[in-house]
Amino acid sequence: MKVFIAGATGAIGKPLVRILKERGHEVFGMTRSQEKSDSLKDQGAVPIVMDAFDFESVNSALDLIKPDVVIEQLTSLPKNYTPEEMQAADALNTRLRLEGGANLQRAAEASGAELYMVQSVSFFSAPGDGLADEDAPFISSATPFIQGAASTFRQMENRVLNSSALRGIALRYGMFYGPGTWYENQGSVYELVRAQGMPVVGDGRGVWSFVHVDDAAKATVSAMEKGDSGVYNITDDDPSPMSVWLPSLASYLGAPEPPYLDEETVGDPDFIYYGTKLRGASNAKAKNELGFSPRQLEWLKETD
Ligand SMILES: NC(=O)c1ccc[n+]([C@@H]2O[C@H](COP(=O)([O-])OP(=O)(O)OC[C@H]3O[C@@H](n4cnc5c(N)ncnc54)[C@H](OP(=O)(O)O)[C@@H]3O)[C@@H](O)[C@H]2O)c1
Repeated sequence: MKVFIAGATGAIGKPLVRILKERGHEVFGMTRSQEKSDSLKDQGAVPIVMDAFDFESVNSALDLIKPDVVIEQLTSLPKNYTPEEMQAADALNTRLRLEGGANLQRAAEASGAELYMVQSVSFFSAPGDGLADEDAPFISSATPFIQGAASTFRQMENRVLNSSALRGIALRYGMFYGPGTWYENQGSVYELVRAQGMPVVGDGRGVWSFVHVDDAAKATVSAMEKGDSGVYNITDDDPSPMSVWLPSLASYLGAPEPPYLDEETVGDPDFIYYGTKLRGASNAKAKNELGFSPRQLEWLKETD
């Protein structure tokens, strides 16, 4: 198939290009930078240098390429995770997802693409019993930052799933770890954990679902090749509360135990939400329909 990826040079984009090429697809990758366009070429993709905010360029390119599938993996998140950098990145990231993504989808529809796939997240589901499946609504009551992010993903999914011009698939990924993410050897969260800078907050009962970026990319290609329209949770088999995964990660990294802090001491309301209220996601649908088979969470292996 002829596949166009926006966000082809990001943490999920890179393995996605690689796996699509291995599967014999023809791949076109968007980037704003000449330097990254060379790395796309090295991967065997055709680089298209343009900005998602420039509708005329995006529209002309897709009109020329006429892809079968368009995959939206656009993000503008900080390279290093800190609450301050997340807040600072929020306005542009939201605008990219809403306005840049809408430009891309409008161009995809005009070009006659059959399928449009969009990056979403599994970790902003409304509270409920057990793991969230694909019918779970997004959070509507949380901190302003989390509510805002959930609202952005709700709008993106609605845009894609309600298109009358093409089939839409939304991929609700878990927290990414692996190359190019905050959770890798020189990544900012690993560094924070090494420095005892990430505490278990309160009861640490918030459940986190992770996914390795290579597994996420593989599942994306499976969804493209054989998925139905709709939503898929792309998360691993090890959703676990912060009180379990964070000490395991520290031990895996050879770091001291993380600090255990109460909510008042932590202060940051977003982090308190992640640590105490986050809901994990079920990957049963992706396993049943796509044959998804994620690896065991890297740092839990060590503590089995
Ligand atoms: N589910 C999750 O846990 C999740 C999801 C997403 C990201 N993250 C994390 O966020 C961090 C940063 O992610 P990342 O490295 O993928 O992000 P990134 O490199 O900043 O951006 C991702 C992609 O979006 C493209 N892009 C951004 N703005 C654009 C624009 N205006 N026009 C066209 N393309 C644009 C970039 O292209 P160019 O720079 O080549 O132009 C790049 O390919 C990582 O730690 C990652 O794990 C986590």
